[in-house]
Amino acid sequence: MDTRQPLVGGNWKMNTTEDEALELARAVIDACDADLAQQCDVCLFPPFTWLSQVGHAASDTPVLIGAQDVSDKASGAYTGQISAQMLLDTGCTMTLIGHSERRHGLGEPDSLLNSKVHQAIDQGLQVMLCVGEQLAQREAGRSEEVVANQVLAGLDGVLKEDLSRMSVAYEPVWAIGTGRTASPEDAQTMHQRIRAELERQYDAPSASGIRIVYGGSVKPSNADEIFAQPDVDGGLIGGASLDAGGFIEIVRAAASSAAS
Ligand code: 13P
Repeated sequence: MDTRQPLVGGNWKMNTTEDEALELARAVIDACDADLAQQCDVCLFPPFTWLSQVGHAASDTPVLIGAQDVSDKASGAYTGQISAQMLLDTGCTMTLIGHSERRHGLGEPDSLLNSKVHQAIDQGLQVMLCVGEQLAQREAGRSEEVVANQVLAGLDGVLKEDLSRMSVAYEPVWAIGTGRTASPEDAQTMHQRIRAELERQYDAPSASGIRIVYGGSVKPSNADEIFAQPDVDGGLIGGASLDAGGFIEIVRAAASSAAS
């Protein structure tokens, strides 16, 4: 029996002006009533520059606010970086780490991502560790091996008691922003593999407690079938999270997948 509360994140990436961000956040907050929030956790990941304003709009509401990245350093001479403590000050409770647009786009290695995971956890943030294979790796039949290695490297040294602060987002790189999604069966297979890897590394209760969400061209029209998979515990939504109405439909799909 799975008792994991679904989690749906809206990763706005480098989109929205300040006004657009506030309008979008308010629309999501208004639609996310107590009933819905009880069935599905919702976290918005705006650009850094709007975190305070969006954090303020979301304070005293069930909608959580997260950052798209965090520094692996606590403070100091690191021009352009944002520390976990700075994020906490804006009202953030979560951060993405290892999104493919940083892992592959900016070449962030596993060792850096692991160091960010430790820094975020030590400072009290929740972490959504993003993993996913590239197209060539999938075509070479290496998807499961690649993703399992990313999970293990990202979590290296993370203690079992800190796993409650972690979630994993499986985002196949070839599905991000392309309109192509993993089939529900492929997503399930990978999520199951990730959970098995967590069980091997930690234990069964820890592995079954961790939320593994799917990301990559999720939209209202395909959310139901993806979230219906037993090891898919919600989604990390990019493009479709920029429309409040569509995003809330996706949240409702995740909520009803848990209820059914
Ligand atoms: P899309 O939903 O636009 O494919 O983006 C997915 C993603 O990268 C979320 O982090």
